[in-house]
Amino acid sequence: MSRGHFITLEGGEGAGKSTQIKRLALALGNAGIKTVTTREPGGAPGAEEIRSLLVNGETNRWAPMAEVLLHTAARAEHLDKTVMPALESGAWVISDRFSDSTVAYQGYGHGVDKSVIENIYQDAFGSFKPDLTLIIDISPDVGLARAGSRDQGEDRYERMGDGFHQRIRDGFLEIAKNDNGRCVVINGELDEDGVFAAIKSAVTKKFGVKI
Ligand SMILES: Nc1ncnc2c1ncn2[C@@H]1O[C@H](COP(=O)(O)OP(=O)(O)O)[C@@H](O)[C@H]1O
Ligand SMILES: [Mg+2]
Repeated sequence: MSRGHFITLEGGEGAGKSTQIKRLALALGNAGIKTVTTREPGGAPGAEEIRSLLVNGETNRWAPMAEVLLHTAARAEHLDKTVMPALESGAWVISDRFSDSTVAYQGYGHGVDKSVIENIYQDAFGSFKPDLTLIIDISPDVGLARAGSRDQGEDRYERMGDGFHQRIRDGFLEIAKNDNGRCVVINGELDEDGVFAAIKSAVTKKFGVKI
């Protein structure tokens, strides 16, 4: 059994990640590909416990470096318990957020040194990286309005102000530019079908599968 592919969806609040991940998993499933969908922070029992510490409560409850380390601890559980076993079984794994969110949120958003975040990642997880990262780009105003009409709770990051969401958007675009073999920027301001068409085309181009 050959190892599955690892696809991550990234982007700010309300960009459409959770909406599109369901559609992508369905399309891959219809093409006969076994897929596992998961999310960060979370995706494994212990990681979901850490998630609740990160997405609830006062915006300033954690020092930025504590956030980096909590996200990293959750990621270690997620990779060990969910992502790696699934990839090794031959399934494709699609994750709603992964390590680029830590660089965007804690690095560009909170100002933690990005090379420190990258070094922590490398020390913890080595050279492992997603095969394809779809960065759904959206203006913070549009994304936050969508997110606000959707949710109940889990909104700690949504409540962060002072240009935080604009820095995240700019950060994701810079991440994509610096790693354009792995990352594809998708226009998140199209309607759901338009966003999905762009995602399908990126997946087809990368892996040669018709979905
Ligand atoms: N392309 C789109 N156009 C308009 N509304 C959208 C679009 N994609 C998602 N939505 C809606 O916006 C809200 C946020 O989408 P969601 O997928 O939860 O975003 P994310 O997971 O990136 O935070 C949801 O209510 C969803 O139905
Ligand atoms: Mg979501």
